[in-house]
Amino acid sequence: MAERPSVKDILAAARNAGPAKPAAEPAAAEEQAAASTERPAAVPQAAPSLGRPMTLKEKLAAARGGAGAPAATGGVSTEASAEAVSEGAAAPSVPPPAPSIGRPLTLKEKLAAAKAAGGSAPAAAKAAPGAKAAAPAAKTAPTAARELPPLEKMSDPKDLAEAARRAAAAKNAPAKKAEPADKGHAAKKAESKSVPPKPSKEAVLAGRQPRRDFLAEFPWIAAGWGMFTAGMGAMTLMTLRFLFPNVITEPPQTVKIGPPTQFEPEEVNERWKTDWGFWIVRSKAYSGEDIIYALQSVCTHLGCPPNWLNGEQKFKCPCHGSGFYISGINFEGPAPRPLERFKIAVGDDGQLVVDKSQTFKEEQQQWQDPDSFVAAV
Ligand code: FES
Repeated sequence: MAERPSVKDILAAARNAGPAKPAAEPAAAEEQAAASTERPAAVPQAAPSLGRPMTLKEKLAAARGGAGAPAATGGVSTEASAEAVSEGAAAPSVPPPAPSIGRPLTLKEKLAAAKAAGGSAPAAAKAAPGAKAAAPAAKTAPTAARELPPLEKMSDPKDLAEAARRAAAAKNAPAKKAEPADKGHAAKKAESKSVPPKPSKEAVLAGRQPRRDFLAEFPWIAAGWGMFTAGMGAMTLMTLRFLFPNVITEPPQTVKIGPPTQFEPEEVNERWKTDWGFWIVRSKAYSGEDIIYALQSVCTHLGCPPNWLNGEQKFKCPCHGSGFYISGINFEGPAPRPLERFKIAVGDDGQLVVDKSQTFKEEQQQWQDPDSFVAAV
């Protein structure tokens, strides 16, 4: 970076500028005019004539702005100004002097000035045709490898960034080279994981061990399982048995006892007492009529079977001594009521039929029912 001129130097340059020199020769003026017409943008503008001496402030401004361009002060020849213009076009990379702001530039301002100086290079390249070839060279220049200071002495962040980029590139290069080798290694590894050949059926049968019968080796387990199975089966059958009601098979309730003529008057026939539980009696004792009826052989006290005592002409209960007449009326003992009658009738064939499903009780005046007796013939 160019050294900044001190205030003292600027004042000396202003004093040396002095009044404007006489005009240049006509030939030189013509050349200057031609040069100005060819490159009007590159020629600096002359200071305006004020018609009075310049103040110190104006001189300082002129010195800052045009110290490097003598033509601006009017004291330099047109040739010198043309050379200065051509030099300015040929050397576009020289940054313009920093404006004086009366204080040192901050870091931010310095960076802005550096950026402005870098950005002026393309404009200068456009202004000078000869500089067109230099622009690509300037573009390629940063891409070329440059010498970097040792890492210990490196202080510029750009150098550090460049060093980091080169290190990363150097690190990736071996990996890229090794990549094809890794692919080949993976393929070989996949080939090495080949499936083992499937054994033949004969080999499998030959290598198979004989099956061991578990239940034969442990018979008590088989016995336990057998008992458990039998128990479960019995429980199942019992459960199914509860699904059906019990059927009570009772003996037939009717019985044929033969024709009425076979029974004698005042006779008690015990033929059907044991099997059917009744006596056949022919007697006139109850109503004075000669009738035949069937008395149930069950004591009305507690259900004991009484006995017919032909000598005493009575039924006697052996349990508690209850006595019944031949008609069936109770007269002694604990029996509370007379014996009961079964239904009796003459069948289609003329035989007497006794039906035990229907009874007649004397205390309820049921002995008057015609189904409770049959008239003797
Ligand atoms: Fe006949 Fe008691 S059972 S008298």
